[in-house]
Amino acid sequence: MGTAYKSVETLLQARQPGKPVYCIYPHIYRDAARHFVANFPGRVLYAVKANNHPLVIQALGNAGVEHFDCASRQEIELVKSLFPDATCYLMNPVRLVGDARRSQQDFGTRHFMIDHRSGLAPLLAEIDAESSVVFARMAVSHHSAMADLSSKFGALPEDVPAILQDIRDGGAEAALAFNVGTGVTEPEAYTYAMGLAREVLENTPIPVRLLDIGGGFPRPYPGFIVPPLDEFFAAIKGIRHELPLGADSEIMAEPGRGLSAPGMSTIAKVLLRKENRLYLNDGMYGAFWELRFKGHVRYPARAYRGHAPLEGRQHSFHLFGPTCDSSDEMPGSVELPAAIDVGDYIEFGSMGAYSLSGRTNFNGFYSDDVVTIDSSASSPPT
Ligand SMILES: Cc1ncc(COP(=O)(O)O)c(C=O)c1O
Repeated sequence: MGTAYKSVETLLQARQPGKPVYCIYPHIYRDAARHFVANFPGRVLYAVKANNHPLVIQALGNAGVEHFDCASRQEIELVKSLFPDATCYLMNPVRLVGDARRSQQDFGTRHFMIDHRSGLAPLLAEIDAESSVVFARMAVSHHSAMADLSSKFGALPEDVPAILQDIRDGGAEAALAFNVGTGVTEPEAYTYAMGLAREVLENTPIPVRLLDIGGGFPRPYPGFIVPPLDEFFAAIKGIRHELPLGADSEIMAEPGRGLSAPGMSTIAKVLLRKENRLYLNDGMYGAFWELRFKGHVRYPARAYRGHAPLEGRQHSFHLFGPTCDSSDEMPGSVELPAAIDVGDYIEFGSMGAYSLSGRTNFNGFYSDDVVTIDSSASSPPT
C-alpha cells in the first residue's frame, strides 16, 4: 500500500511529481502513539476523522493503539478491515439511520453517544441496550481552543444528569463525555472541564464508570506554541481522582491531532512565482484547508530544487493554492530560500491532522498520491 522511499530526496530523484505527494513517516507515528498510550492515564481512542488514511491507521495500530473513535459506520468498516480485533466506538451524536444497528451486528460496536434526550429513542431502537454503553456529551468551551467543538454538539451541564438517568432507564450503561475543542493550548482546559464533569457527576444519582474527555491535545506549528503533551497528562492525572466515578472507573481520550499531526508531510510544487507570491499545486481546497482555524496559519517548510535541499538567504513568501478562487490563499507568510522559483518543491511538515480527510476536487485539483518514507533516518520539517 503506497510506494516506499528512504527519503524525500530519493522520491524526488525517482520522479518529479506534478501533483502533491503526501508522505507518511511510520516511525514518527510509532513514537507518537507509544508516547501517548504509555503516558495518558486511561484508555486511548484514535479519532479517525483527523486522518483516515489506511497507512496512518495502520501505523498507529501497529504501535499499540487498540481503540478507535469513529464518526460513521464507514470509519468502523475501514478500521476493522485493517485491525479485525480493534475496538471501535460510534461516537457521533448524529448517525445515518441503521448505522448503529449494523455497527453492532457486524462489528460488535458497544459504545455510542447522544447529546440530547431526543437522540436516545432512535438509538435504543437499533441496539441491544443491555450490552451497550451510551455516553451523554456535555458542552464545554475553553478560550484556549483553536476551534470550539461545543457550539454544535453537547448538552448544557445542568441537563446532563437527566440524560444520564434516561440512558440508564433505557437499559444501557450511562457514561459521560465532553470535548474541550481542538488544538487546545492550555492544560487548564482539561482541569476546568473535568471540574464541570465532577459537578455533573455529583448531581447524578446513578453510578458512572466511564468519563470520555475527548480530543483537543495540541501539536505545535510555527507561531503556534503549545506545552508538551506531558503537561496535559499531568494536569489530567492531578484531578482525575477527585471525580466521583464508580467502581472499575476509567477515563478515555479521543486524540485526533495529538496522534496524527506529526507523521505526515505534503510535497507541493511551485507553479508560479510573482515576486514574493508563490502559487503551489496544493492549497486551501486541498490539504491546507485547516489553516482557516485561529492561530494556526502555517506549517514548517523545507525547499528542494531537483532532488537536493535548496538553501540560502531566507525571504518571506505568501502562498496561494492553484484554484481560481481568490480565497485560496494560505493565511500566514512562510520563510523560504529567496531563490525559490517555478519547478522547485516545498515539503510541509506536521500535516497529518485534518488535511487528507478534507481535500476536495474543486477545479479538478485533487491528488491521492500517498507514499511512505520508511527510513527512521528521515524526518519531516518541524
Ligand atoms: C467527538 C470528537 N472527538 C475527538 C475529536 C478529535 O479532536 P482533536 O483532533 O482535537 O484531538 C473531535 C474533533 O472534531 C471530535 O469532534
